[in-house]
Amino acid sequence: MKKYLITGCAGFIGSNFVHYMLKKYPEILLVNLDKLTYAGNLENLKDVEGDPRHVFVQGDICDKELVESLFAKYDFDYVINFAAESHVDRSIKNPEIFVQSNVMGTVNLLQRAKEAWYDADAKTWKEGKKYLQVSTDEVYGALGAEGFFMETTPLCPHSPYSSSKASADMFVMAFHDTYGMPINITRCSNNYGPYQFPEKLIPLMINNVKHHKQLPVYGDGMQIRDWLYVEDHCKAIDMVCNGGKVGEVYNVGGHNERPNIFIVKTIIEQLHDRLKDDGISEDLIKHVADRLGHDRRYGIDPTKIKNDLGWYPETPFEKGIVLTIDWYLDHEEWMEHITSGNYQKYYEEMYKNK
Ligand code: NAD
Ligand code: DAU
Repeated sequence: MKKYLITGCAGFIGSNFVHYMLKKYPEILLVNLDKLTYAGNLENLKDVEGDPRHVFVQGDICDKELVESLFAKYDFDYVINFAAESHVDRSIKNPEIFVQSNVMGTVNLLQRAKEAWYDADAKTWKEGKKYLQVSTDEVYGALGAEGFFMETTPLCPHSPYSSSKASADMFVMAFHDTYGMPINITRCSNNYGPYQFPEKLIPLMINNVKHHKQLPVYGDGMQIRDWLYVEDHCKAIDMVCNGGKVGEVYNVGGHNERPNIFIVKTIIEQLHDRLKDDGISEDLIKHVADRLGHDRRYGIDPTKIKNDLGWYPETPFEKGIVLTIDWYLDHEEWMEHITSGNYQKYYEEMYKNK
């Protein structure tokens, strides 16, 4: 049975990953270390409560003793690091926590994994171990009208968030180059789907449209993102972890580039038709001040992961966005708990009996 240390899996992508892996592997152990920041939500894992294959530990990836004790207790085969401060706008306001969690946290995980997996006398690594860093296409910076991000594209981050992620990637690569640590890095484009915190474009717009609130589109709304359904990302991470060549970076994305304004108008149209609500219209759109240093276009070339591992994005955007809107309409309580702050109380209730 493979034992994974997975971090940050009370958040959006991580919680989807837990669901994906538990569905796929009858025998597995996922130890989920999450600090439960504002973005961590145990309600995302309600469906798997009581499943012995998933163990939740509240804690910080920067905590040396805690991470050491988890390695000693579980003898992990894999570490997959999802944990991060992930919101670009927050990084513009408060960069320090991004350095702490995203850079220092990654280095702590690398160090603890090295201590557990590396035999310094024999200068060998234990068989079958791997550290996987979940990174982002934002480390490459921004594209003009032409071309795509390849794994060989030089790192050129612009925001404090993407700079912290690029820095973490460089440490991961340094551990491979210096000590021979078995690693992979995945760099994915924008994810969407269930359980995404409503500070990010798609869930924020769904929630605002539903409540006839203004839709804040930054600048002209013509910035382009390459949208990927979150389950397809989870599948890619599993494939890279279990089949990726050690030391390699894999870009994950799907030639699904859309301008932000297109996304917003699609959500308006879908919800107007679905809810039969004439209060929902493009009049809700409000162009607001642009994000500082706003990257104009991201676009991934996924040829390497397709050729090497057979991964491709299975969910076309037209299908994924319908699935996503359905999910948010069916999970009003989940959204209400977040927007009202009630999800914090859920944590307290969860811990009271433990
Ligand atoms: P998220 O913000 O929804 O979740 C992050 C999780 O990490 C939360 O549960 C939070 O509590 C936890 N966390 C934060 N700091 C921590 C710390 N110091 N110790 C332990 N836990 C901590 O993020 P997400 O959108 O699920 O992104 C997950 C990962 O994927 C991140 O590394 C992000 O950079 C990367 N990524 C995200 C996207 C995207 O579109 N969302 C795309 C590419 C890559
Ligand atoms: O590309 C991968 C990255 O995608 C991840 O690494 C990040 O963790 C993730 O947050 C996401 O970053 P973005 O900045 O692209 O996502 P966000 O949802 O914040 O914004 C998407 C686009 O929409 C971006 O161009 C900014 C714009 N936007 C966003 C919000 C929240 C708006 O126009 N209005 C908004 O209110």
